[in-house]
Amino acid sequence: MKKRKLSVVALAACLLVACNDSDDVEWGKEGDVPTEQTFEDAQSLSDERASIEDETVEEDRDNPKEVERTDDAPLSDDVSKSHAGEADDNGYVAGIELPTDPTYVDGVLLASKRYPLPADFNPGEDPEARAAFEEMARAATADGLELVAFSTFRSYDYQVQLYNDYVARDGKDAADRYSARPGFSEHQTGLAFDISGPGGIDFGTFGETKEGKWLRDNAHRFGFILRYPEGKEHITGYMYESWHFRYVGKEIAPTIYEKQLTLEEYLGVE
Ligand code: DAL
Ligand code: ZN
Repeated sequence: MKKRKLSVVALAACLLVACNDSDDVEWGKEGDVPTEQTFEDAQSLSDERASIEDETVEEDRDNPKEVERTDDAPLSDDVSKSHAGEADDNGYVAGIELPTDPTYVDGVLLASKRYPLPADFNPGEDPEARAAFEEMARAATADGLELVAFSTFRSYDYQVQLYNDYVARDGKDAADRYSARPGFSEHQTGLAFDISGPGGIDFGTFGETKEGKWLRDNAHRFGFILRYPEGKEHITGYMYESWHFRYVGKEIAPTIYEKQLTLEEYLGVE
């Protein structure tokens, strides 16, 4: 697989302003700390990734915390208590601990800086999301495009490795803008799909490619939303990721798309 890259200078610029630099540098291999500044998802392009992932699939999400939401209903004490407090500079509440159960709001599983997952939450890739992706890929093919899901489910343990590598390389403040801490990644839900065209991805410019534009305009029809839109970092906690799509289902994805909401805004949570 061809591996595409961003340079140190490019990502440094990305961290400050919209990024459209696509200088080439070589990605590190899985388990290495790449010598060049990169986005975390780049490592997921490695064929070796699967070997370190825990492939156990737990069909049963035991005792999920279900929170019913309406537009005017505050979060229950149980949920708001566990997420009370001011977020620190990187969007995390100081001292926040991983819960014993995942949080669902209106039936939607949340994974964010405010709503972490249990370390042992290990559902594997969601079959419904995979089926939706395959349906979407067929539709893209009919339009002359090829979509590749290059990173989907990631275990807690794999996120430990990724995050630690990026912190060691880039520093915590920079890493926290593009890589979730272990237990906080939406990839651990099995519902997040990082999508590219064929031949790898240039993270800085994917949103402007024909595949990136097609996804932006059509993913909602198949139940996916662009999870970290441009200009919403103060809400989502992460910089713009034109390749990261979250499966939420065909019932709500079109509304989120049409109203240009983040998942947090749609669900009415921080
Ligand atoms: N890149 C996203 C934020 C993650 O690490 O889950
Ligand atoms: Zn992602």
